[in-house]
Amino acid sequence: MRQQIAAANWKMNLTYQQGEQLLDGILNANIQLAAHQSAVFAVPFPYLVMATQKLSGRNNYFASAQNCSDQKSGAYTGEVAAEMLKSINIRYCVLGHSERREYFFEGNQSLAKKVELCLANDITPIFCCGETLSIREVGAQEGFVETQLMESLFHFTEEDVRKVVIAYEPIWAIGTGKTASVEQAQEMHAHIRGLFAKKYNQATAQHIPILYGGSVKAANAGELFHSPDVDGGLVGGASLNATEFTSIIRALK
Ligand code: 13P
Repeated sequence: MRQQIAAANWKMNLTYQQGEQLLDGILNANIQLAAHQSAVFAVPFPYLVMATQKLSGRNNYFASAQNCSDQKSGAYTGEVAAEMLKSINIRYCVLGHSERREYFFEGNQSLAKKVELCLANDITPIFCCGETLSIREVGAQEGFVETQLMESLFHFTEEDVRKVVIAYEPIWAIGTGKTASVEQAQEMHAHIRGLFAKKYNQATAQHIPILYGGSVKAANAGELFHSPDVDGGLVGGASLNATEFTSIIRALK
């Protein structure tokens, strides 16, 4: 089975101590993951080492960064390079989250560089895509997401692109309590998979995990993850609560 992933995105929330407590709470639930399942925690940069230490020794639990620089190294004050993440054993990095695209003006070309740098450092990019409400209202969401994938990912070789995880996060569903319906999520996930099949081949398309993000919670994770093309979730608000997030992990296929 394709890799199934419950990914927490803490965004800019929690103090270090609250983060420790949350991870302890989740680990205390002692959920044993199958070989095809992973739990990933995208925590703020200063918490990465702590999170890695806490998660080490647990099969398929990983810490993740929420971003990295599109430059290799050098005079870029305040930035964090993929190589730095590798040097502290980070295996995942969220890239192109809609909040970064909107508030920090990240574009598809810069994201292509970030993906490249992550892959060069053996870090799995969790590449976010998704449309705004106004784009969905005019029915242009499929083309919009296609452009995001085309401009950031579709120049990679088949071997490289297979290392990427996609997160489809419709912006109108993020932090709004408004989840895409199971049908809307499945439809877009199938579309995204179809784009990989068209650009590469069916085997590659079938290999790539596509996570859904946008108001995922314990109460809806089961039905969303049950869809054939939804391979787990990227979870914001509900990932800040141990009970909620453990239920979400348990909802993985
Ligand atoms: P919410 O789960 O809070 O809607 O956030 C989704 C998200 O942006 C995850 O990256």
